[in-house]
This record gives sequence, structure tokens and C-alpha cells, in this order.
Amino acid sequence: MDNYIRIFDTTLRDGEQSPGATMTSAEKLEVARALARLGVDIIEAGFPAASPDDLEAVRRIAVEVGHPARMDGLPRRPPVICGLARASKNDIDKAWEAVKHAAHARIHTFLATSEIHMRYKLKMDREQVIERVAEMVAYARRLCEDVEFSPEDAGRSDPEFLYIVLGEAIRAGATTLNIPDTVGYTTPDEFGALIAGIVKNTRGIENCVVSVHCHDDLGLATANTLAGIRAGARQAEVTLNGIGERAGNTALEEVVMALHTRRPVFNLVTGIDTTQIVRLSKLVSNYTGIVVPPNKAIVGANAFAHEAGIHQDGMLKHQQTYEIMRPESVGVRQSQLVLGKHSGRHALKARLNELGYALSEAELDKAFGRFKELADKKKSISDADLEALVTDEFYQPREVFTLDGLQVACGTMGMPTATVRLRDPDGAAHTRAAIGTGPVDATYKAIDSIVQASNTLLEFSVHAVTAGIDALGEVTVRIQGKNGGRTLDAQKEVEQPRTFGGHGADTDIIVASAKAYLAALNKLLVASGGYGEAEKAAQVSAVLA
Ligand code: KIV
Ligand code: ZN
Repeated sequence: MDNYIRIFDTTLRDGEQSPGATMTSAEKLEVARALARLGVDIIEAGFPAASPDDLEAVRRIAVEVGHPARMDGLPRRPPVICGLARASKNDIDKAWEAVKHAAHARIHTFLATSEIHMRYKLKMDREQVIERVAEMVAYARRLCEDVEFSPEDAGRSDPEFLYIVLGEAIRAGATTLNIPDTVGYTTPDEFGALIAGIVKNTRGIENCVVSVHCHDDLGLATANTLAGIRAGARQAEVTLNGIGERAGNTALEEVVMALHTRRPVFNLVTGIDTTQIVRLSKLVSNYTGIVVPPNKAIVGANAFAHEAGIHQDGMLKHQQTYEIMRPESVGVRQSQLVLGKHSGRHALKARLNELGYALSEAELDKAFGRFKELADKKKSISDADLEALVTDEFYQPREVFTLDGLQVACGTMGMPTATVRLRDPDGAAHTRAAIGTGPVDATYKAIDSIVQASNTLLEFSVHAVTAGIDALGEVTVRIQGKNGGRTLDAQKEVEQPRTFGGHGADTDIIVASAKAYLAALNKLLVASGGYGEAEKAAQVSAVLA
């Protein structure tokens, strides 16, 4: 058995399918590019049958990221681009239509095999399931030479039945067999035994790659994935930050760093450039509006912070007393006070290059303007400040409405009042004032009275980028709009409303809050159809090196 673990990233499919994680197609493309740079082997880019927009997003990723001719700055072998399909000809046709443009394309089809799913969801008996799997895998294989099959809810399926279904899938042409613990029910011992049983008892399995796909309902997704790998799986299905349905999927960063840090235990390797992990984690969090908890393993803000006095004392004596990984190995840099008021454009460009951002001259001009503004307010500017600034300036949806001015009055006397001036897509200025329960509420009400896109604010969070009273504040919001459209969940076969995330950074947290809200509103406006495809496509400029 080889010792290479294929990393199959499903942030753009299982991750994006979770409530609140909606990304625009330009953001999906940006994440796909970053995943290719990270070195993932397979990108599950979406569920093309969900809607024409979803199909187009996957097609663009296949064209732009899955093709060697367009790999400037990316690794030489482009990742396999995969599309999910239910076990139906229509879904499989749509998946193929989207992924066929990639140099290496994969169709991933699935059908449930647990008694509860077969009886209540599919209303099919075992014979019918076996027949459908054989028919649909063969159909997919006639289109595409790389076909993955998943028996949904395998974690609660009868293993003897699984051996038969998987054997039929192999006979019909499946090349990867993915074993999902769809509802996060199994324990590591059980899941490891399930994979070992499949490897031992399934006819033809020696010519296929066995894959694992775990959900985190009991907080066991990473442990189960590693148990599956030890039992013989050679592909791990994961998402960044562990986003996904309900409690989420297995986190890419946890599996990769466990294999990396405990190499003598596993004796397995991945193709991941671990130093890009933290940057990608931030990108996904900014785009989805799903905030990473501070204590999250590997990518949480506190994952490498050693605050307790006793820990600091130990750290000073020897770093490895409390640190099992070097922060740099996942891309966390010791925050350096690198630039200040007198630093020039050249110094900024050099530092941004070192951080991995390759800006065009026009983008650099903008970044320099923002840098000077910040340097006027803040004495020394760290790498974290620079990253927040670049993210705020360039990783934003196309601005339908732009913030042109904001003034607030608040405190213990009088009522919190905000006056907001926005520019509409034609450049015309609109000014409104509103009162609210606090300055943010007043600001959002004033923005609402101009934009008029009715929505519910689902989440609002603010955090300081660095320590100190003059720190940049980063705000993340998630909204759900009445007219923002709906998205089809491949597994539950239900439509759910789309939600939109936005983020903003500024030394003034009310300004950061306004920017974050406008970013989310702009996405909602584009999705609700007021702004055309060409405009959608132009939303984000790619700036990561
Ligand atoms: O969790 C699951 O079962 C899935 C399948 C579609 C692989 O996401
Ligand atoms: Zn899943």
C-alpha cells in the first residue's frame, strides 16, 4: 500500500452547502486557486445540478484552475476537478458538463445504503439500490474515466451489504470508493474496523482508492478520519476550518498537521504546503462569514498563543515545552513591527511580496494609500495589519454601493445617530440619517434606508487584529435576504435560503461594521438578479501570489 494520502477538499461543496457558507462564483474561483496552490489533490468544486449558477461556477473552476495552460503560479500538475451528482442521469450529465473542461476531471456520485435512508428517504429496497448504483456508476464511467462512488450514511449501514454495493460499483467502473460517516455517528474504533472490513472483503478493491469522509457531530471527525487512514484509506475528504453540514466536516488543517507532526506514528505523507494553511483559513472565513473560534486547533487565533504565565516561563526555557508545532509551519508569522509612517511604496511592495501578495501597480497604489492612512493613525504596522488591509481592500465583492462617508454620534447622552453617504452604481450620492439602539444599529438602519434590500442579520462579530488601543478592528457579518435566492442541498433534496457573508477592517470599528454590512448587501444584490453575469464575474481581483 502506498504511503501517499490524497487530500480531497470539499470546502466548495460540502462546506458551501452548510447554512450560511454561500460564496459568490468569483470567491469560489479564488478559493479554488488558493487550494491548488496549497497542493490539494482533488477539489470538489460544487454540485452542478443545484442551479445554472452552480454549474457555471464549477465550469469556471475546471477551466481556470484545472488546466495546465492556465497554471501560472500554480503547481505544475493541476488538481483533479470533481463535481457531485446524485445517482441520476440528469445530475451526472450536469456534473460532466461542468468538469469536462479540466485536464483531470472526476464525477462523484452517491446513493444511500443505510436501512433508515433507504426506507424513508429513497423508498428503495436493497436490490433496487444495488441496481441503481451499478447503472449510474456505469453511466458516469462512459463519460469520465475517473468516477468516485459514495454509499451515503455508510457509518450506519450493514457492512455485509456495503461489501456487495461497493463490489458492484467497482464492477461498473468506480475508481475511488468513498466511505462517508454522513451523520457523524461512529467512534474511531468502529470506523477503523468498518474501513478494514471493506478493504478485506470487497471484491476488486485492490484496484481502487479507498476514501474517508467524516462529519463532526460528536467531535470525532478527525479521529475517525485518521482511524480510517490507519485501516487502509488513502484519500481523506476534508474542508478548511472544518466547515460543513451541521457540526461540519473533518478539518483539512487537523488531518494534514496530525500526519505531518506525528510522522513516526503514521509514516504517511501529503502533497500539502502547510505554510499556506492559515492564510487559506482566513480567506474562507472572510468569504463565508463563518468566524473561526479562537481555540480552534491549528488555525484559531489562540492556537499558538501562550498567555498563561507558567507556559510563557516554560517557552522561554525551551520552546518545545508547550509547542508541538512551529507556528511558521502553518504560516503563522511572529508578528513583526515592520513598517511605519516613513516607510515608502517600495518597502510596502517588498513586504507584501514576502507575505505572498503579488499586487499589480494599480493595486499597489491603492494599498499604499490605505497604508499611509493607517500609518497616520497607528505608529507601527505589523504583518497582521498588512494582511487585514489587503484582505479588506481586495477580497471584497464587486461594490454595487460604496461607502462614501459616515458620521456617528453616540454615548450616554442623546440617542445614537448615524449619517451615511453611499454612492450607487451610477456614482450618484445618497445621504440618510437614522437613530438606533447603538452606533452600529443606527449605521445599519441608515444604510438600509438607502439600499432597500430587506434582510435579516444572522451574525455580527468584531475582533482586534493586533493588541493595543490603536489596533485595526475586523468585522464579519452574515445576512439572509428575502430575495437572495435559494440553494439545493444535494443530500436532503431540499432548498434552503442563501446567506451572504461580508467583512471589513478599519481602526474605527463602526466604519469596519459599515463596510462589512455593505459587502454582504452587495453580494445579496448581485444574487437577487439586479446585476448581470458580467458584473458578477468581475467581483473579485485575484491578488494572492
Ligand atoms: O456526508 C456525506 O455522505 C456526503 C456524501 C455526498 C459523500 O457528503
Ligand atoms: Zn458530507
